[in-house]
Amino acid sequence: MSTVLIKDIGQYKDDKVTLKGWLYNRRSSGKIQFLIIRDGTGFIQAVMVQSEVSAQDWELAAGITQESSLEVTGTVREDKRSPLGYELAVESIAVIHQAEDYPISLKEHGVDFLLDHRHLWLRTPRQVAIMHIRNTIVKALRDWLDSEGFTLIDAPIMTPAACEGTTTLFETEYFGDKAYLSQSGQLYMEAAAMALGRVYCFGPTFRAEKSKTRRHLIEFWMMEPEMAFVDHEENMAMQEAMVKYVVKAVLEKHPADLKLLERDTAKLEAVLARPFAKMSYDAAIEYLQSQGHEIQWGDDFGAPDETALANLHDGPVFIEHFPAAIKAFYMKPVPERPEVVLAADLLAPEGYGEIIGGSQRIDDLNLLLRRIQEHKLPQEAFEWYLDLRRYGSVPHSGFGIGLERFISWICGLSHLREAIPFPRLLNRIYP
Ligand code: 4AD
Ligand code: MG
Repeated sequence: MSTVLIKDIGQYKDDKVTLKGWLYNRRSSGKIQFLIIRDGTGFIQAVMVQSEVSAQDWELAAGITQESSLEVTGTVREDKRSPLGYELAVESIAVIHQAEDYPISLKEHGVDFLLDHRHLWLRTPRQVAIMHIRNTIVKALRDWLDSEGFTLIDAPIMTPAACEGTTTLFETEYFGDKAYLSQSGQLYMEAAAMALGRVYCFGPTFRAEKSKTRRHLIEFWMMEPEMAFVDHEENMAMQEAMVKYVVKAVLEKHPADLKLLERDTAKLEAVLARPFAKMSYDAAIEYLQSQGHEIQWGDDFGAPDETALANLHDGPVFIEHFPAAIKAFYMKPVPERPEVVLAADLLAPEGYGEIIGGSQRIDDLNLLLRRIQEHKLPQEAFEWYLDLRRYGSVPHSGFGIGLERFISWICGLSHLREAIPFPRLLNRIYP
């Protein structure tokens, strides 16, 4: 007899097994107790019949508190009615640790209470499902990048300069000098792309944004591929292939989790059905104005604008050729129209907003120098970055996918805070 995981229980039909886990819930009806046990890989109902166990075990089970850790031995029985397809007929039970009164009951709790108890909230089925899907999304992204010949290059977290504008920098002290938490690994990926061709980084990213929206985290995870000899068009084609690969992987691997999350999977299937739409920034502004949005050419989109644009399509849509003035300093201008740049944001459908920001980068030394000055960035801190345009400069492009935005969309979450194990939000760094 061996200890098995709940997710593998189907391999042990009619066998005697031991499970180790926690008590999620218990109910009893006279001579039968139903124990819902979770072990991190799944939830199973363990059925204890009074006449089939010792009096001691029967009494023990009756007193086990919610979230106590335990070990249960019994026989795996097929049960077509249960979500798992199996239940456990209990023969014996042992408590590893009897839990104190558990703060999270099975009733509804307010979100502030849940966030204060995020370390315990993570144990609930919905949160476990989201974390499993998060894991699959990261793996699928990496599998796709591996298959396309990318090399993982880790970017530093402590940096001497801004990448995405100076307003959202987290400042820290570095032995008497100033340093900043990374807003993006992109600039380092550009250096690495000149060394290895196709590279990507994946790590935490920090934005000191005073925004309290459901789409913003202060610390989030970003995957940033960068490609030498790739232009704006190819950059978008890569993004589309990658997003489709990941959506397909989640649909294949997580039907039960998506069901638990009440995700309408037809909406995700639709993403695979046809090419992603493309719309210019100009056309987007025109459309928004026609719908009565208060927006002028040159403005950045707000969340309601992005939602209105996304609602025009049942899949993601690229909005391209943004005004240079509202985008980062490194983006390459459209040659025949330099007031707009070779950049695209990928908007997810159903109002989830921008999930990817990407662009072709400036490869001309003098133009890049000018931009650094226009953006009032300290040139000394960017000398190494300028070197990439001094020694064998090439056309190159890349993009950054916000992991939690992607998860939120795939899982159909109403707020990014559930997409990350321990969210850092405006005014919240506990637990
Ligand atoms: O559009 P962003 O700012 O682009 C960059 O950082 C580029 N350097 C990426 C690149 O080209 N290598 O951010 C990229 C993505 C956004 O599309 C969004 O999904 C996510 O990162 N993101 C956030 N996610 C959660 N909270 C925030 N505050 C975010 N800010 C950006
Ligand atoms: Mg962006």
